Amino acid sequence: MKEVLHVGCGKATIKKMTAGFQQGWREVRFDINPNVNPDIVGTTVDMTGVASESVDAVYSSHNIEHVYAHQIGKVLSEFWRVLKSDGFLVVTCPNIQYVAEFIAKGQLDEPLYTSSAGPISALDILYGHGKAIENGEEYMAHRTAFTDSTLKKGLNAARFATIGVRKHRLDLWAIATKTAVHSDVARRLMNEYLPPRDMPAGAPENSR
Ligand SMILES: C[S@@+](CC[C@H](N)C(=O)[O-])C[C@H]1O[C@@H](n2cnc3c(N)ncnc32)[C@H](O)[C@@H]1O
Repeated sequence: MKEVLHVGCGKATIKKMTAGFQQGWREVRFDINPNVNPDIVGTTVDMTGVASESVDAVYSSHNIEHVYAHQIGKVLSEFWRVLKSDGFLVVTCPNIQYVAEFIAKGQLDEPLYTSSAGPISALDILYGHGKAIENGEEYMAHRTAFTDSTLKKGLNAARFATIGVRKHRLDLWAIATKTAVHSDVARRLMNEYLPPRDMPAGAPENSR
């Protein structure tokens, strides 16, 4: 059975991951918040609790925007370090360019979708979910943001070899392999481990 490191898992489990992970995979849950019962409590900025080249995949959903811009290089390098040589990363985060279109229209605090944590506005996407931060969960603040091109640039800088990024309205989704793969393999990975292109806003991770 292959192993996927679920970083910044929150309360989510492997069942919330994309179709490819639903068979033949076992998850190891990693989060900074001990209250979500992760297998490993830690920060993505320093993942010393995870051995180098130990996992087949890393899955990061709405997590990388929780660190400062200057820390992103370290976080993505940590993801690269813990992957086996034939391993790959699946990462999704807000598509800030699309969110900016709503802000430009003056829709800063109107709900754009409903998550399990309640309605989410452009303001929440920019700075993090207000309610959680108000409750003292400072690590829920958003400290940076990505467009498709800056996400690709970051993955490149962290030494990922083959990178595919897709825009899904409010979200970006990317696959990045540790070592270079043929375009057919990259296409297969994207089909299996990213959500379908015609995914409605909302699936598969809650309702984005
Ligand atoms: C918006 S939630 C996403 C939860 C889940 N992955 C999802 O998509 O529904 C962000 C998660 O990242 C975690 N987190 C924030 N900063 C972190 C850090 N530096 N290292 C590890 N986890 C972090 C939070 O505790 C939280 O569980």
